[in-house]
Amino acid sequence: MYIGLDIGTSSVKAILLGEDQSLIASATAELTVQRPHPGWSEQDPDSWWRACETVLDALKAEAPKAMAAVRGIGLSGHMHGATLLDAAGKPLRPCILWNDGRSGKQCSELEAAEPKFLTLGGNRVMPGFTAPKLQWVRENEPEIFARTTMVLLPKDYVRFKLTGEYVGEMSDAAGTLWLDVARRDWSDALLAATGLTRENMPRLVEGSESSGTLKADLCGRWGFDAAPVVAGGGGDNAASACGVGAVDPGSAFVSLGTSGVLFVTNDRFSPNVDSAVHAFCHAVPDTWHQMGVILSATDSLNWLAKVLKRNPGELTGLVGNVEGPSPVSFMPYLGGERTPHNDVDIRAGFFGISHGTDDAELCHAVLDGVAFALKDCLEALSVAGTGIERVLAVGGGSRSTVWLEIIASLLNVPVDVPVDGDFGGSLGAARLGQAAALGSTEGIFTKPALKASIDPVPALTQRYAEGYERWRKLYPALKQAGF
Ligand code: XUL
Repeated sequence: MYIGLDIGTSSVKAILLGEDQSLIASATAELTVQRPHPGWSEQDPDSWWRACETVLDALKAEAPKAMAAVRGIGLSGHMHGATLLDAAGKPLRPCILWNDGRSGKQCSELEAAEPKFLTLGGNRVMPGFTAPKLQWVRENEPEIFARTTMVLLPKDYVRFKLTGEYVGEMSDAAGTLWLDVARRDWSDALLAATGLTRENMPRLVEGSESSGTLKADLCGRWGFDAAPVVAGGGGDNAASACGVGAVDPGSAFVSLGTSGVLFVTNDRFSPNVDSAVHAFCHAVPDTWHQMGVILSATDSLNWLAKVLKRNPGELTGLVGNVEGPSPVSFMPYLGGERTPHNDVDIRAGFFGISHGTDDAELCHAVLDGVAFALKDCLEALSVAGTGIERVLAVGGGSRSTVWLEIIASLLNVPVDVPVDGDFGGSLGAARLGQAAALGSTEGIFTKPALKASIDPVPALTQRYAEGYERWRKLYPALKQAGF
């Protein structure tokens, strides 16, 4: 038996899998995001731990026998969050999250001061990443920076609570910008650029390796017969890839979660900094990946649903059959954008609203806007020679068939829909837990059963191609107008 624990932005999800990877039990606990200033996004690290306790208590209550036989636990989590610990291992401040935009100034200064961020780090220095956040703390909260002994990513803080050890793994570590991504090791030069050393970083393992075992008191609490191994795990996107079997070069998925991601597995480190493509390590050895990341995917839909006082599922249900783009255009930049613009200041907007515009038209515009932004990611990946032949759809937004139809026709690739599309990172995490417990990745990262494949519809592809050409002109126009 294996447990996958996914520390998502809006909830912690735990699943319990049998030896054959069948689902035995699952539990979810909600999390909140604090936004104390415009553009900021924070979470209390101990809220992750409390949520983990809640979901593991729930698994034990539901399946005590299966829990007793757990041999491996895997972790997945939202990436890039800066969790700063003092010498006693206590968080010094709320974690600064992946969608926090406060460090724009530090990003340009770090890029200018240390060109190795673009070469060894392989990525633009973007405000979502961890290194510029530490530079912000160094400049704005020097007393906290001075007391920072250890910097961990969110899932690695949960690991510390589970095992008592400071350990990270490659896929998430690459998103700090302190990693030499090709060599899969911390870079002294990149750390020094933000006033840190290896001493402030956890030891690194591969995602499918063991990082330690569960503390004895916790084994008692959750009724494990023997202390389970805790695998390295993965950043949520690499873990999701493990969950859908996207570990071979060329395999790709689109994730419609809080963020939107177009993910492709590579057999080598393949940076493309010009288009703000993310180039990171995968959670399995000797493998890397590229992604285009947009900051507000289901976040855009949830925002609209909140404003219109409806629930998101009801709202997408209003859209009906789509015959082309909505007459209204939506730019999904609620909190700035990463790929391809790397623009922390840009904000969202609707354009083309008329007297006839209703909730359905606005929702259709939001689905289109997110899909257009994913098309921007596809273009960014293809500029560097990465082609995508088909994608698998994951994440909460993939429950909307109409959204997937729009994406298939606009990206002009078939979209495969797994039987259970709401994978998140928990399944991949559990699989990594299994690999670590068995000491092998053989036969573990299989592809899921599909319930459908959505093919592009030529007429729709044509209309969406025209819509995309119109839509993509809005960003430079907004910039020019000073938005
Ligand atoms: C990836 C990214 C997001 C978060 C939250 O670079 O920032 O996908 O991992 O899901």
